[in-house]
Amino acid sequence: MVRQKVTGARSLYMRGYLLTVCLSVWMDSAHGIGVQLIPQYPVVNQSVTLSVTGVTGTIRQFAWYKGSSVDTNNQIFNVIPSLNSVTHGRQYFSRASQFPNGSLQISGLVPTDQGSYTVIIQTAETSARHTVLLPVYEPVTSSVISTNNKEPQENGKVTLTCSTNNAEKILWSKNGVSLPPRLILSADNKTLTFSSVSRSDTGQYRCEASNAVSKTISDPYTLTVNYGPESLSITGRLQVTSGSTISLECSADSVPAPTYQWKLNWTVLEFQNSKLNIQQATSENAGNYTCIVTNSVTKISPETSVYVTVNDNDSAGFTAAIICGSILGTVFIICITGLLYKKYVLSQKGQSGDIGEDPSRVYENIPNTAKAHPAKEEGPYMGLQYPSQDTYSELKK
Ligand SMILES: *[C@@H]1O[C@H](CO)[C@@H](O)[C@H](O)[C@H]1NC(C)=O
Ligand SMILES: *[C@@H]1O[C@H](CO)[C@@H](O)[C@H](O)[C@H]1NC(C)=O
Ligand SMILES: *[C@@H]1O[C@H](CO)[C@@H](O)[C@H](O)[C@H]1NC(C)=O
Ligand SMILES: *[C@@H]1O[C@H](CO)[C@@H](O)[C@H](O)[C@H]1NC(C)=O
Ligand SMILES: *[C@@H]1O[C@H](CO)[C@@H](O)[C@H](O)[C@H]1NC(C)=O
Repeated sequence: MVRQKVTGARSLYMRGYLLTVCLSVWMDSAHGIGVQLIPQYPVVNQSVTLSVTGVTGTIRQFAWYKGSSVDTNNQIFNVIPSLNSVTHGRQYFSRASQFPNGSLQISGLVPTDQGSYTVIIQTAETSARHTVLLPVYEPVTSSVISTNNKEPQENGKVTLTCSTNNAEKILWSKNGVSLPPRLILSADNKTLTFSSVSRSDTGQYRCEASNAVSKTISDPYTLTVNYGPESLSITGRLQVTSGSTISLECSADSVPAPTYQWKLNWTVLEFQNSKLNIQQATSENAGNYTCIVTNSVTKISPETSVYVTVNDNDSAGFTAAIICGSILGTVFIICITGLLYKKYVLSQKGQSGDIGEDPSRVYENIPNTAKAHPAKEEGPYMGLQYPSQDTYSELKK
């Protein structure tokens, strides 16, 4: 009893096994065939083998068709391996050849070879059919970046275009790393748009175009965003002493580097760079120095000014000395003039008075010579007093 049971179980198991084997054989021959592309990514001008896989048993006959429908009009060839017989169909082309294992080889691929191919394999047991899609890849052409705006200014719109063919994927990089996220790429990634470009977008851009069979990387494109001049300043000493050097430097933030021009008051100076040097400065060089900074791309030309004073050697002390000196000088001249006036003008008056008066006095005062004598002695003294006042008033005038 026990043994029978065991036998029964075994026979059931055996039947199941046989069924599985039969099924798998049937599936392999009927529905289990496939086509493998060798190489996986066929390239134009090269060859490809559409290799039939999963065939069990001897192939009695096989046929290849262009397209997915099995139609005599689409037939490339029909082959009976055992007879070495190949019948060309309407779609036959000389670059197509067959192998006894059912495979189709196409050499010298052209882009129009791309498409569906269908094979029918007949073995002793059954026939099976499979359709495969053949892609034909072309290598990507070298990628080149071009722009719509060769001299972009800040906040302007800039597009960079990656020109390439046959690419399936395009990736951009900036300074060797992937792009910052705010930038806009077209659906195919060919165009990179900066709707409002900023100075921080300045950098080296590359595009990498690739497909399954090749990859090219463009030369770097240097995007330079122009701006400024801004943040102008003039540095240098604003108070210099006579005989020393006036040395000013003008600076500004600007791309491209700006040109510089200097003015003193309203006069344009010959200096054309950021540094200005005037040696042996005199008071003539004092004034309002203006630096005009021009950006040739943005056409912006701001200016800034400083006032430079040139002091005489000892500055304040010397000035004070000059003022004092001139006051003293004036006083001195007054004194000298007074003395000279007294000496010449009055002494002449005094002499003539003596000559004119003396006789009358002498004659009138002859009777009292004693009285006249003191008067005569006072005469010169009085004479000195009067002219002195005259001199003063004359100087006042
Ligand atoms: C394929 O061959 C043709 C003709 O020889 C040639 O002009 C073409 O450049 C080749 N293409 C590739 C991708 O090699
Ligand atoms: C069929 O034959 C070709 C040519 O010998 C070979 O490249 C291919 O791998 C074969 N296919 C199979 C499935 O063996
Ligand atoms: C476009 O670029 C992004 C990254 O910036 C990448 O993830 C995506 O695969 C690219 N698409 C194509 C079609 O190249
Ligand atoms: C510039 O102007 C200032 C007064 O505004 C004047 O003192 C100075 O002498 C002037 N400098 C020149 C070189 O004209
Ligand atoms: C210098 O001149 C500019 C005009 O050229 C004027 O705007 C500025 O006020 C002047 N600066 C001084 C310190 O005189």
